Amino acid sequence: MAEKKETKSNAATSKSEDNSGIGVVDALRIIAGLLLINCIASYFVTGDSITWNYRPWWIRPKVLAARLRSPVILADGDLFHYDGRNESLPIYLALNGTIYDVTAGRRIYAPGGPYNKFAGRDATRAYITGCFKEDSIADYRGAEWTFVPTDVPHFMDKFDEDLSETKRDYRYEMVGQALEEVDKTIAHWAKVFRGETGKDYFEVGYVQRNPGLMAMLPIRPLCAAAEKKRPKPKFDKTAKYRRAERAEQARRQQLEYAKLTNPALSEEAERAAAAGNEGHDEI
Ligand code: HEM
Repeated sequence: MAEKKETKSNAATSKSEDNSGIGVVDALRIIAGLLLINCIASYFVTGDSITWNYRPWWIRPKVLAARLRSPVILADGDLFHYDGRNESLPIYLALNGTIYDVTAGRRIYAPGGPYNKFAGRDATRAYITGCFKEDSIADYRGAEWTFVPTDVPHFMDKFDEDLSETKRDYRYEMVGQALEEVDKTIAHWAKVFRGETGKDYFEVGYVQRNPGLMAMLPIRPLCAAAEKKRPKPKFDKTAKYRRAERAEQARRQQLEYAKLTNPALSEEAERAAAAGNEGHDEI
């Protein structure tokens, strides 16, 4: 009787296995097969990567080693030694105060290479303005003007109170956008130098400097090449500002009209005009 029961239960088990479709081992086999196909496809598409160029820091031996070591801390003056002239030293460059090892790009950064100007120094300003010769310095204050349209006057050339309200708003919006562009540019190059775009570069430390000292220096004017490539005027092309400017003009005209038709209102109108819109200067 017991034997019969066992046979029944064995039959039930094998039936349930049959019903369950694939077992754990089969599932693992399928996953491994898919992974293999994925790696082969990645290798054929990218040419050298089996992970679609995704290389997290923990699978990169040089980065792991750099993380295990204490960070490289160098003053700007010491960073110069790592510009590729001494072949026994790694090539370092710095961006916004962070030092990266770009020895893997020796051809590009060593003396005679197209970007040797960036080696052994923090040339953040040049990454923004593109003026490699005169702007290979860390201080990038004012470099955002590279991205500010040419119809926005500089704060030194025109104070806020010399501009109409609309043009003041326009200036703040354009400068705000330009500052975002600066951040994006720095973030882009930081990604390259961290090796996240495929190059075998990595972060090693930071530059030791006194930020207060830099703040005391006068802000550099934009280099000629960056000044030349500033975006075209946008004010007249921006519907929002065109509308606001028209509304402002209409308000001015109404005030003028009120002054003409009712001299008693004239003083009041002038006060209102002065309060609402100091200065009528065009950009
Ligand atoms: C703001 C302007 C620019 C900046 C900041 C800049 C920066 C750089 C940097 C840092 C590299 C090296 C990337 C790496 O290590 O893999 C590079 C490579 C390169 N750049 Fe520029 N670049 C600028 C403009 C230009 C322009 C206008 C051209 C073309 C006329 C150009 C052509 C190249 C070429 C061909 C390479 C590859 C060099 C090589 O592998 O030998 N760059 N750029």
